[in-house]
Amino acid sequence: MSKITAAITAVGKYLPDYILTNKELATLVETNDDWITSRTGIKERRILKEPNQGTSFMAVRAAKDLLEKSNIDAKEIDMVIVATATPDMPVASTAVFTATEIGATNAFAYDLQAACSSFLYGMSTAASYIESGRYKKVLLIGADKMSSIIDYTDRATCIIFGDGAGAVLFEPNSDGMGLQDEYLRSDGSGREFLKIEAGGSILPASEDTLKNGQHFVHQEGKTVFKFAVSNMADVAEKMLTRNQLTNDDISWLVPHQANKRIIEATAKRVNIDAVKVMMNIHKYGNTTSATLPLLLADYEHLLKKGDNLIFAAFGGGFTWGAIYLKWAYNS
Ligand code: UT7
Repeated sequence: MSKITAAITAVGKYLPDYILTNKELATLVETNDDWITSRTGIKERRILKEPNQGTSFMAVRAAKDLLEKSNIDAKEIDMVIVATATPDMPVASTAVFTATEIGATNAFAYDLQAACSSFLYGMSTAASYIESGRYKKVLLIGADKMSSIIDYTDRATCIIFGDGAGAVLFEPNSDGMGLQDEYLRSDGSGREFLKIEAGGSILPASEDTLKNGQHFVHQEGKTVFKFAVSNMADVAEKMLTRNQLTNDDISWLVPHQANKRIIEATAKRVNIDAVKVMMNIHKYGNTTSATLPLLLADYEHLLKKGDNLIFAAFGGGFTWGAIYLKWAYNS
């Protein structure tokens, strides 16, 4: 009997309409288009402006896009994972609400949080359920409303992040397509450098935490940058050497979109040509859990069955890793 692998068989996406440009940001904080473009590669990002709507609003739309494109009945879905750092509310689960909203009435659902590596870790989780033979259709959604946790008076963070959602479906495959290998890492000593201090169990919300802006993302950009560059490059390189892949064998590098300079450094280390590096950071900024599925949705029309994809991500925690996946279909 041939081994069951877990392949991505469909993708979908949702982006809010509102475009926050570098020019508009320059009216909020002391910055300019030149600085943002040269330091990050970002020109604009999307912001969810719908009142009283959170991450599930986008997750539902990305999932519906996938279901409509692939003609799949939501009732066939066994499981829904929402990878997110910005759940609708601390309790209850965003994935459970999302599954119900899309009509996945036969699925169970839960959230998965690993900051900017949430989707990458989610790929590993979704694929494992398929490989075990236990489930046949696992919907993995990466969605974040980063604008809900960003301080728009802090120029070091507000220029980077944006809102968005992407979705992929994992199904069993018997001709060797899908997830081939993974190398996932984490290091808790990194939590000092990228965090939201308040609103959790250590420091519950209070008047003081609100006054001090401790419910916003705080990051020591330079330190995170340094770790991101070396760790993302290390794991991407490991995927190639461990699977005896040369740079010619790689069809696409699919890197988390945090900073164009981090992406370029990773590509350089594994010697992958710029034309084979997926990039959309200029349009969306860093959408945290949504960057990887948004890349797949934007590049889907260029992907061919058998293409070798190397995913790499780095995020708060610290969390990071790489996945080697063979693309399973032609669009
Ligand atoms: O996705 C999760 C992981 N997150 C990341 O991977 C993010 C990693 N970090 C970064 O991408 C970069 O560190 C940033 C884009 C956040 C910052 O870029 P940088 O090149 O590391 O800048 P810096 O923080 O070292 O600041 C350099 C200078 C400082 O001024 P002085 O002290 O040299 O006078 C900052 O105050 O640039 C200043 N600066 C700005 N100037 C204009 C910081 N932010 C801005 C800004 N506009 N928005």
